[in-house]
Amino acid sequence: MIKKTLLSGIQPSGSLHIGNYFGAIKQFVDMQDNHNAIYMIVDYHALNSVQNKETMSKNILNLAIDDLALGLDSQKSLIFKQSDVSEHTELAWIFDTITTMPYLERAHAYKDAVANGREASVGLFNYPMLMAADILMYDVDVVPVGADQKQHVEYARDTAQKFNNVFKSEVFKLPEVKILEEVAVVSGTDGRKMSKSYGNTIPLFASDEEIEKAVMSIVTDSAGDKPGNVYAIHKLFKSEAELAPLYEENRGKYKVLKEALISDLKNFIRPLREKRERLASDTDYVLDVLKEGGKRAKMKAEKKMEIVREAIGVKLY
Ligand code: ADP
Ligand code: TRP
Repeated sequence: MIKKTLLSGIQPSGSLHIGNYFGAIKQFVDMQDNHNAIYMIVDYHALNSVQNKETMSKNILNLAIDDLALGLDSQKSLIFKQSDVSEHTELAWIFDTITTMPYLERAHAYKDAVANGREASVGLFNYPMLMAADILMYDVDVVPVGADQKQHVEYARDTAQKFNNVFKSEVFKLPEVKILEEVAVVSGTDGRKMSKSYGNTIPLFASDEEIEKAVMSIVTDSAGDKPGNVYAIHKLFKSEAELAPLYEENRGKYKVLKEALISDLKNFIRPLREKRERLASDTDYVLDVLKEGGKRAKMKAEKKMEIVREAIGVKLY
């Protein structure tokens, strides 16, 4: 049976939190065994917000270490960083030329920036086209991401269709988005979507003290007996059936329930943290994974771009 191609990418824009893991990375790790899996550190996307040399380099290395600690496996997946394959930005340019301003004005990332009174960079505005290039470059079937990225994958589909229509070709395959409904939005310590921009996260490699601090800060102004924000996070680690007696016995005892969550979080995070520490002591290995992956991805992208250049008529020899 031919394996389906799976692709995802994460920006090296800060530390990972459990929302990133349950919303995106876990699905990817679970799927890499029976898919042709491609995973990218999308550093050129992050350049919209990370504009400091040392921070960028550090973030890329840290994310690569995090990913390997979480089970991404270079024997099973093609792992690389976006900037090693310059064809992505080339393809994004081509997509820019067949895409209209009003269409991109409807994209969430841009709309949010404007709604928050920020002047969006052209890079942020064009962001969905670079993401479309990331995806369409590799004839991808499925893109597993958190719910907030659904629109961007739809943009990639639309762009594939548009290109194929404009250039009367079948160059690009239409990708499907894959979202696990029950973890589509992991909520943070304040009940809003967990996000590094809201400062409401539980870091994925948190120390025991950081776990305690984050859980104790969970807002518990629930109307019923069950502290909703605690339960929403707890559900990620234990089934509803396992949690039911605990929450029943401890109705209204928010401190006891938070302590139970702390203990489950510690058990989940400790082995990940230990694996991460081992990898962090061998950064040569981690950099090698990226470098080798970049070479393999580049070969694929070069081939695809030959077809694209042919389709648009610039390939004369
Ligand atoms: P953040 O919102 O913290 O900046 P990113 O935008 O870098 O996170 O997201 C990286 C990946 O993790 C994306 O695929 C995104 O959909 C997923 N993700 C981020 N936050 C959550 C969340 N709270 N619940 C589920 N998935 C999430
Ligand atoms: N836009 C995604 C995010 O912010 C990152 C991303 C870039 C991506 N290219 C991608 C995700 C391709 C999936 C596929 O999280």
